[in-house]
Amino acid sequence: MTTLSDRQAIGRDLVRREGGLKVTGTAPYADDAEVDSPVFCRLLLSPTARGRVTGIEVPEVPGLLTVLRAGSAEKLTSTGDDELAVLQDTSIAFRGQIIGAVIAETSEAAREAARLARVACTEEPQDTAFSPDRDDLYKPEKVNAGYPTDTAQGDLDAAMRTADVTVERTYTTATYHNNPMEPHSTTALWDGENLLLWESTQGVHPVRETVTEVFGLAPERVRVVSPHVGGGFGSKGAAHANVIVAAMAARALPGRPVRLALTRREMFSLVGYRTRTVMRTRLASSADGVLSGVGMDVVAPTSKVTEFAEQAGVPTRMMYAAPHRATSHRLAALDVPVPTWMRAPGECPGMFGNEVAMDELAEELGVDPIELRVRNEPAVDPASGKPYSSRGLVACLRSGAERFGWSGRRRHRVGDWLVGTGVASSVYPAFRMPHSTAHLRYADGRYVVSIGAADLGTGTWTALAQIAADGLGVPVELVEARIGDTDQPYASVAGGSSGISTWGSAIVEAARAFREKHGTEPPDGAEATGEIGSNPAQGQYAMYAFGAQFAEVHVHADTGEIRVPRLFGMFAAGRIVNPRTARSQLIGGMTMGLSMALHETSVLDPRFGHVVTQDFADYHVATCADAYRVEADWIDEHDRHVNPMGTKGIGEIGIVGTAAAIVNAAHHATGARIRDLPLTLDKLLPHLP
Ligand code: MOS
Repeated sequence: MTTLSDRQAIGRDLVRREGGLKVTGTAPYADDAEVDSPVFCRLLLSPTARGRVTGIEVPEVPGLLTVLRAGSAEKLTSTGDDELAVLQDTSIAFRGQIIGAVIAETSEAAREAARLARVACTEEPQDTAFSPDRDDLYKPEKVNAGYPTDTAQGDLDAAMRTADVTVERTYTTATYHNNPMEPHSTTALWDGENLLLWESTQGVHPVRETVTEVFGLAPERVRVVSPHVGGGFGSKGAAHANVIVAAMAARALPGRPVRLALTRREMFSLVGYRTRTVMRTRLASSADGVLSGVGMDVVAPTSKVTEFAEQAGVPTRMMYAAPHRATSHRLAALDVPVPTWMRAPGECPGMFGNEVAMDELAEELGVDPIELRVRNEPAVDPASGKPYSSRGLVACLRSGAERFGWSGRRRHRVGDWLVGTGVASSVYPAFRMPHSTAHLRYADGRYVVSIGAADLGTGTWTALAQIAADGLGVPVELVEARIGDTDQPYASVAGGSSGISTWGSAIVEAARAFREKHGTEPPDGAEATGEIGSNPAQGQYAMYAFGAQFAEVHVHADTGEIRVPRLFGMFAAGRIVNPRTARSQLIGGMTMGLSMALHETSVLDPRFGHVVTQDFADYHVATCADAYRVEADWIDEHDRHVNPMGTKGIGEIGIVGTAAAIVNAAHHATGARIRDLPLTLDKLLPHLP
């Protein structure tokens, strides 16, 4: 354990500073923005997956102010991104697309008008059924996060032919919809020449960039404010069409603030989702468990409107050593809503395939699954050839095994329940975005650090104050962070688990500049700014956080009912700024992984092209009753290369590997190997003793 000096703020488990506001319901979210006499906007969505809107009739409901219609709405300046070119013409590209909006004096009147609206449209044959065997699969130019689509080293086919043992299997993950607690909401106001948006977003500056481009406005004319966000998981990482409609509605009613809050149902077609993936994995091994080849070929759907390629094959490129490697991604473009980021895009589904395959290989070889992973630990990153800035996988596997009680594991039975345990690795890149700027000001004995960052409910308000306090060498109680407003300096999106690493680096730089300029006894009004570019060490090192997840699974021998009484995750994610909020991120990710493993699945009806599971009755997200003991811890890791704080990001790695650990444990308990998520009892029942 590191001993902390009394003054050091990083590493202290401080309570979140805005917690009081949140638990008393007084933290202002986007839909709570205090404005004078707001009006209310409700959307009209396409009832068909492909065709044309031929008419929209809205009756004269009392309080109705105006109607926006596809084809006759305000012309946008930039329509380069089809997802955002909303209402620009009458074509329908997916079911649940925005084709109109009504704005009324009250929320009730808007709902009533939307309910009574009559939409006429033509229907054309639509294509929404995904299959990996379609003959129109195509190779995207790159996959999400800019990775190459395909990679190959050596000759994997030859390695598969000559290996002692091979595993070649196909795994599938379901469609998952981001369901943050707070639905996407906007309060928009055109005030003279200026647009003011209170927005629920992962990045106020990125939203401003999008809105200024779409409407052709100078940046200084748009302000985006977002002090509190009730989760996003990627779906609030970029502005979607609803934000554009809210701004259009405000422009149609100048001086009147417009509120547009999506309903839960609308979120199932408008704000993105994680696509299904079909992953063919290949492992070639010697009899003693040394890999000679690894491969993954991914097929997934995307939308014809805007391409998104889930990079599920990417973690296979770097995870384990082997001279022969190959990965590929192919897509089927369908008449479906636009997919997007969802917590650990790429790594989350990819490591399901990867880590269940490793479990299958371990079983085939008769080698302990942890030992198999240790034997294939690479000396350098197999994808890039660069050394790792730090790689804590083996430490996580070993110390996690100790803590979980892995050794001597045996399948057994307790009453009617079959009991087993499973393990899987976690990984997530340690990203730092290329730009962010922080500003520091001292007055009346207090320091204020301003940066247009976002707190999605993760603890950013608190953690950034901790980083600033250590940078300045002052007690954290004297430091206040101000975030969530484009009036503050530019901050990158809270995405790719890069927030603390990026914004914190800018804050450390601002603190350094402040001390250099003003010394330790600054005058009132002393200020300094810190701006960062890319991390130069990124070219020299492969930077990743790692983890090991352990699950205990009970399966009822007669009914197939599945319970997960224990999940334990051990992580190596650099320095932990605040153990309290970090633990909450990690166990939150693991709980979402449990939900992915056992419950969540969006069912698309290919006859009509819509997701039929559009609410929390049909789309079950794990609740407290589903999550028993979910625990996380971490090893002390000091990585000097990632950034000045030594942090690696913890928002996403918690979900990576959880589903594989659970599926592997269910196999240990029952002998049944389920390769298609979610793991539901109907899949296990035929295999039970
Ligand atoms: Mo996260 S899915 O990169 O917002």
